[in-house]
Amino acid sequence: MIKHIDRLLLVGAGKMGSAMLNGWLKAGLNPNGVYVQDPHITPDMAQYLQQNNVAFGDAAPAIFNPEVIILAVKPQVMDAVLPHLKAFTNPKSLFISVAAGKKINSYENILGSDANIIRLMPNTPAAIGDGMSVLVGNKNASQHHKKLALALARTVGLAEYIDDESLMDAVTALSGSGPAYVFHMAEAMTKAGVEAGLPKPLAHTLALQTIKGAGNLMAQSDDHPSILRQNVTSPKGTTAAGLDILMGNNALEKLMIKTIAAAKQRGEELG
Ligand SMILES: NC(=O)c1ccc[n+]([C@@H]2O[C@H](COP(=O)([O-])OP(=O)(O)OC[C@H]3O[C@@H](n4cnc5c(N)ncnc54)[C@H](OP(=O)(O)O)[C@@H]3O)[C@@H](O)[C@H]2O)c1
Repeated sequence: MIKHIDRLLLVGAGKMGSAMLNGWLKAGLNPNGVYVQDPHITPDMAQYLQQNNVAFGDAAPAIFNPEVIILAVKPQVMDAVLPHLKAFTNPKSLFISVAAGKKINSYENILGSDANIIRLMPNTPAAIGDGMSVLVGNKNASQHHKKLALALARTVGLAEYIDDESLMDAVTALSGSGPAYVFHMAEAMTKAGVEAGLPKPLAHTLALQTIKGAGNLMAQSDDHPSILRQNVTSPKGTTAAGLDILMGNNALEKLMIKTIAAAKQRGEELG
């Protein structure tokens, strides 16, 4: 479906915008039909866009008239950017925002209540086609718009469409911010390995491959994570001793609940 998008405007070519664009171009999005709007494009990004024959600059020409506008700027600058894009509101065009926190009505207030708007919460593994996205649209978004947005999201990983926008801050806190929690877990496991006497490079390799392997095993197995955990935990064994610390008094669970609650609250504030 994304091969049939004639004109796509990407507003904001930072980490998330460029990760998704990369996935879409690899999946066959026509580079000649893409314009990247970002006043501060990095030299690396400029080189990437040139190599891929994608036009870029401070603002898309008015005649560009995109059918899909991807909003990938920070939530804090969104309100300053949107008025310049209002001219692209029409019955066919679809605005897709990946910004954390910002509610659909804040887009409607600026783009007009007739604008077709979908919020899409991705995460950075989208850069390697292994992202997780959740989408929710406004009342104007048609079945065609939903299919189009889902097709874009599914090009870079798994995607779920929901009807209840109030869930989006929790979604953001779990899967949007989640990769950073896992990256931190790798840092913490490496540090702990060093504390336990391993050379740092070895500890780093062990931590990364363990997280990757366990993730792949979880994804490929029909068993629930709790069963996989029990399968490798013999009574009074080494894993049991480690899990006593992580699970004793629900330590990790409590920490994760606090972590996700804090991220969710920040999403609400940004909105
Ligand atoms: N990163 C994630 O893991 C993640 C996950 C889910 C959702 N998101 C959402 O994705 C959005 C982008 O996040 P990010 O991490 O990609 O941020 P980022 O790397 O800072 O990218 C934003 C880009 O927009 C540019 N920009 C600033 N003002 C602009 C304007 N007026 N017009 C066009 N472009 C402009 C920025 O340039 P300067 O840097 O020079 O200002 C930057 O290149 C955010 O709304 C965030 O909530 C991010």
